[in-house]
Amino acid sequence: MNKKDYDWAENVADKIYAKTKHSVKRSRDKIPYLTQDGIFDDWSDRIHWWTNGFYAGQLWQLYHAYSDEEFRQAAEVIEDKLDAGLMDYMGMDHDSGFKWLLTAVADYKVTGKETSRNRGLLAAANLAGRFNIAGNFIRAWNDGGDGNTAGWAIIDCMMNLPLLYWAGEQTNDPRFSHIAKAHADTAVKAFVREDGSVNHIVHFDPDTGEIVETLGGQGMGVGSSWTRGQAWAVYGFALSYRHTGKKEYLDTAKKAAGYFEKSLPESGLVPVDFCQDKDCEWEDSTAAAAAACGMLEIENHVKEEEKAYYHDTAMRLLKTLEEKRCNWKEGVDYILKNGSVAYHDENHNFPIIYGDYYFTEAVFKLCGKELLMW
Ligand code: GLY
Repeated sequence: MNKKDYDWAENVADKIYAKTKHSVKRSRDKIPYLTQDGIFDDWSDRIHWWTNGFYAGQLWQLYHAYSDEEFRQAAEVIEDKLDAGLMDYMGMDHDSGFKWLLTAVADYKVTGKETSRNRGLLAAANLAGRFNIAGNFIRAWNDGGDGNTAGWAIIDCMMNLPLLYWAGEQTNDPRFSHIAKAHADTAVKAFVREDGSVNHIVHFDPDTGEIVETLGGQGMGVGSSWTRGQAWAVYGFALSYRHTGKKEYLDTAKKAAGYFEKSLPESGLVPVDFCQDKDCEWEDSTAAAAAACGMLEIENHVKEEEKAYYHDTAMRLLKTLEEKRCNWKEGVDYILKNGSVAYHDENHNFPIIYGDYYFTEAVFKLCGKELLMW
């Protein structure tokens, strides 16, 4: 790591600490997702929502780095609240990694608390139970009134697989990683296109396992490249490589990363979909932050002569965010503005909690403060 990037990251990490010190006082007992007038809202009554672990994840990163009890206590409140979701089978979906790796598993890693380990293992067992053996994929969502989704898998699930790798290590039981690897193997073939772009949703026949169709999901349409999905592929495959050492996963992460880097506009700001019109101003800062984490993860695993490409791409993304998209005002809860949930949403370019989380994680990786979450 060169000293200039390290110093930059140290400085930004301190700003994240100072900023979150203010937001946490206003957010005790909340599960933040979006903001109203700069102040976090509270999703405690929508306990199954996939983003409910991100603020706690940010707090655990900060507690790990700065040993400030206020962060730990607020993270524990969110972890306790998530039990209501864990006890409701029909509300559980494949996003257990996002929810419990950043809450209970993080808590267990830091404190060794047995109740937290138990929560993580229960979440992992539920995730493993979503595996479809005919198609070798983990089912994404439950039916939500819009048809039968028993055969749907989504690229985002690559980020949930580390919960299975963790559970396998904890229980010394390879079933968990067999399932994670089977899903990742399917994802290499079914989601990643020749040029490194990825499908968001693949619909399999849940009885035969055959691919029925691909769907545009949160991107612009079939065959387009939704940037956050692209970021999930970059980071998710790199993480499966970290946990398994299977070279195909690293090669796939590099392919998705190469597509991401080549598609970046001059500004370094990430659109919602790489295929959207060049004059469309819809952005997704959360995709930029998550992709930066993925680039830094790849940097850890490639040969010396390849490292600069991934490192410099991550730095370009992060410095652009810091210069143009961060809000460091004490009275405003969010850090990153200009996230987007999906291309076809009514609203774009607003703060979303997972943007702050991945920005924090990437900055902490750069200055050696990171708590390994995935
Ligand atoms: N996992 C859903 C999303 O990235 O929006």
